[in-house]
This record gives sequence, structure tokens and C-alpha cells, in this order.
Amino acid sequence: MQKGLFITATDTDVGKTFICGAIAAAIKGRGIRVGVVKPVASGGVIGANGKLVSEDATFLMSAAGIGEEQRQQVNPVCLRPALTPAVAAAECGVTIDTAQLISTCQAMIAKSELTLVEGVGGILAPIWRDYLVADMMLELKLPALLVTRPDLGTINHTVLTTEYARQRGINLAGIIINRWDEDKVTVLERSNLAYIERLTGLPVLGKFPAVSMVQPGQASMKRLGELAEQHLAVDDIISLMTGVEEIA
Ligand SMILES: Nc1ncnc2c1ncn2[C@@H]1O[C@H](COP(=O)(O)OP(=O)(O)OP(=O)(O)O)[C@@H](O)[C@H]1O
Ligand SMILES: [Mg+2]
Repeated sequence: MQKGLFITATDTDVGKTFICGAIAAAIKGRGIRVGVVKPVASGGVIGANGKLVSEDATFLMSAAGIGEEQRQQVNPVCLRPALTPAVAAAECGVTIDTAQLISTCQAMIAKSELTLVEGVGGILAPIWRDYLVADMMLELKLPALLVTRPDLGTINHTVLTTEYARQRGINLAGIIINRWDEDKVTVLERSNLAYIERLTGLPVLGKFPAVSMVQPGQASMKRLGELAEQHLAVDDIISLMTGVEEIA
């Protein structure tokens, strides 16, 4: 049994890392050993130790309570250019071994109780040559959550992503709407939500608010986990990961 979940989004910058971190922090808060993987990252930065690091991996490791010594297992490929990985790798003369990426994810899944894998960009982002995020999702055989925006354009992006996933046989199991502020939503966000539910037929497993900057660190990650418990259907998400219960 693959006890994990793949987090994708309708685009880059929608909130995969943020939501993945929030779910990881909530799971950790329940006393469960949670693993995180960001198999490939681009737009890496020079870290305190002078090495190229992925800020996404830093955030996820902090949320999951995973130490720096495991960075390579969390994020085996980190590329400097802020380009889609296939292009970033080509620019740097790096070869991405996709079989190795899958093994990295499987190793984390094997040693953790529950594992979250963050994709890169959206479902069609090229990881290496014509190997796309969707291909990785299929190989990993994990259920997936789709993180979406609440604002104008989201119906189109969300339904297109869902339809493509169905066409490829990917088990997209639910949607999380990120940056949803209950006090501020108007007819725009409410109608987007209604259309997304109706046109995708998928459950919306949470609407996460926009919160003030969360930096990696124990206290803020604990708070992020509490927010996840408040705004996301964490029980249902864990059930998806363990395959215990089908969500209607
Ligand atoms: N609910 C939120 N409240 C406040 N800030 C948020 C929220 N969601 C995301 N952000 C911020 O927005 C930015 C983009 O989010 P995030 O990095 O999670 O996107 P992503 O989908 O993982 O992007 P990428 O494709 O680069 O991996 C980050 O700076 C993140 O901290
Ligand atoms: Mg990210």
C-alpha cells in the first residue's frame, strides 16, 4: 500500500508548497511520522552552507520536522534557473534520471507513516524532455490533490486540469482552494466554487485562508498545522492517503 499523496496545482505559485506544508504540519501535530518529497525543484537559491537549495524543500522539511541531514532524500534535484525543470536542467547541462526520482519518492514513502509529494508547476510541466508531472503521478500511483486559486480564471484552469487527469487515468481525489477569505469573498469566488464542484464532480476538501507570511520554523509551522486542522478536511485527506475510505 502506497501511503501517500501527490500535491499538484493549476499553475506555479498557486500554493502547492504552502498547502503541502500545512497538511504535513497537521499530520505531524497528530503524532504521525510524516515524510515530504520535492523530487525536483528549479529556482534554487544559495543556502547558509553555500550550497544550492530549494526553498520549497526547506519549507516542507520544517513543516514535517525533518532535519537538514535528509535534504538530499527530500529534494534530490535542485536547479538554479527559475525555468521548468526540463529546460532548467538542459541549460545547466544536468541529466535528470526520472527513475531515480521515483525511487527517492518510494524510499520516503517506505520509511514514513504518511508521505506528501509536491509536484512542480502544474500537471503538464515538463520534468525531463517530454516526461511530464502527469507521468510522474502515474508512476507513483498516489492519489492526488489539486490546489487551485479562488479568483477569476480558476474555473477554466481547474476543470482543464481535472479533465486531463481523468484522460490520463490519474486519481485526482479532491481540490483545495487556496487564499480563500470567508470575510472577503464575493459572488465571484462563490460562483467559482459552485462551478468547480459541479463541473469537476470532485470534493473540495478545504478552503485555506490567506495568512500573513509563514517562515520555516517550529512555532509558525505548528500554527500552520492548526490552521490546516481548522480549514481542511484533514481526516478525509489522511483517509485518502491510507486508502482506508473512499471519499464520496
Ligand atoms: N494561503 C496563503 N497565505 C499566505 N501566503 C501564501 C498562501 N499560499 C501561498 N502563499 C505564498 O505564495 C507564494 C506561492 O506559494 P507556493 O510557494 O506554495 O506555491 P507553489 O504552487 O508551491 O509554487 P511552485 O510552483 O513554485 O512550487 C509563496 O510565497 C507562499 O508563501
Ligand atoms: Mg512549491
